[in-house]
Amino acid sequence: MQSAQKLKVLFITSEIYPLCKTGGLGDVSASLPVALQNLQTDIKILLPGYPSVMQGVKYKRKISEFKELQHFPPTTLLAGKLALSKTESLSVLVIDCPGLYAREGGPYLDAGGYDWPDNALRFGLLSKIGAILSSDASPLKWQPDIAHCNDWQSGLTPAYLHFHSGAKAPTVITIHNLAFQGNFAPGTVIQLGLPASSFNVHGVEYYGNLSFLKAGIYYADHITTVSSNYAKEIQKEPLGFGMQGLLTTRSKQLTGIINGIDIEKWNPETDPHLAKNYSSKKLSNKSFNKAVLQQRMGLDVDDAIPLFGVISRLTYQKGTDLLIQIIPDFVKLPAQLVILGSTHVELEAQLMSLAKEYPQSIAVKIGFDEALSHLIEAGSDCFLMPSRFEPCGLNQMYSQRYGTPPIVHATGGLVDTVVNLTPDTLANGTASGFSFSPITTGNLFSTIQLVVETYRNTKTWQKLQKNAMAKDFSWQASAAAYQEIYRSLIA
Ligand code: ADP
Ligand code: GLC
Repeated sequence: MQSAQKLKVLFITSEIYPLCKTGGLGDVSASLPVALQNLQTDIKILLPGYPSVMQGVKYKRKISEFKELQHFPPTTLLAGKLALSKTESLSVLVIDCPGLYAREGGPYLDAGGYDWPDNALRFGLLSKIGAILSSDASPLKWQPDIAHCNDWQSGLTPAYLHFHSGAKAPTVITIHNLAFQGNFAPGTVIQLGLPASSFNVHGVEYYGNLSFLKAGIYYADHITTVSSNYAKEIQKEPLGFGMQGLLTTRSKQLTGIINGIDIEKWNPETDPHLAKNYSSKKLSNKSFNKAVLQQRMGLDVDDAIPLFGVISRLTYQKGTDLLIQIIPDFVKLPAQLVILGSTHVELEAQLMSLAKEYPQSIAVKIGFDEALSHLIEAGSDCFLMPSRFEPCGLNQMYSQRYGTPPIVHATGGLVDTVVNLTPDTLANGTASGFSFSPITTGNLFSTIQLVVETYRNTKTWQKLQKNAMAKDFSWQASAAAYQEIYRSLIA
């Protein structure tokens, strides 16, 4: 395709790996644009200028100033490059607004774990700049054909564009998690420069508040979410989280597209974070990683004991509380558990105290540790993901690629990406993990028992590992599906 015909996409996001990541959105915001770029898309990423972004984006140059942007502090737009590997980089536009972004802490929460009190302004600005750059009010020569928003943080872009009278790009919003909605007091509508008339059920209003996500879902030209199954689930109670009615009325413009993963970064044959690389042909090297992981986490080093891994936000969504309840029975199997995660202080404390009580069997690391997360994927025998709901989930895909069959609750994207072991799926070569439903501690524990039994049967276990490792979790098909939506919108 000639470069003149390249589709131009502005990808608006509040996270990007490796500069700022609190979960899967960070991974997807790097790996999907790279995949689109490989499909000849001209893509630029719009990001808030948090300190990590200001430091990590190279060759920055000022390309515009927004001195009199009503309702927001003075803002400069910088353009630069984000190098992702020796061969891959992304063009990035950074919103430099020290008044809103130059502070230590997370993108959404302060160091104490509380929402930043000015989050409406912080992400109102991201949405606003996204809208300006996607319209004829843009100071840039580069004008996108499509504005692609992600989650509530850029949910107001379609709303601002709706009220812009000049030329503008069509919008897509991807829902990564409907549970996070960006709801703020009604007065925020005026504070963010939206017309008072937009505070309406046919607009940005949602149960008496301004909702960034509802606004995005209401005004975007197309809505996507991160798996087909989740696209169905959110049109009903309870996973519609109050937005099922609106999503149902928009179901013709709602598409589920399963996330892919970065198969270069998550590759057991080359991963630099592993103690020893391995492939499905040389699975014996995988157990070396198990021994290193057991040793590093202070567990008994014993290949015969099945080792389960968890890498997760420690929250109600992820079912951490259910896991905690079964630990006294779990250690008697015997089995070991390594947990890496953070978020909910109370759950963190409960896990730490269990690790103290069962030091040979339970190891917990609180915090965010990218390198350790790779070693856990490789060194565990089985990955545990008892999420109450899961729009897509990435770790179950990483774990299958690493020959670490997952246990999942049959929900959302976990249904679309894990094939439960049954005599049939074993015989036809599709079994790649274990899934259970409904989500109860009893079902979780009996599935763990089944894994322990299956693990002892080396032939079946290796078959499962090899099936999982052979699956294609690349972005190829999904990036093409996004491109098809973009094209349909500009046709
Ligand atoms: P979610 O976005 O809901 O948290 P996903 O499974 O989509 O769930 O993505 C989570 C991502 O964040 C994965 O890449 C996972 O490895 C990573 N992750 C989560 N917690 C940690 C942690 N404590 N340390 C390192 N990586 C983590
Ligand atoms: C969200 C979801 C997760 C999904 C990720 C990336 O954080 O909770 O299931 O994989 O976004 O789309």
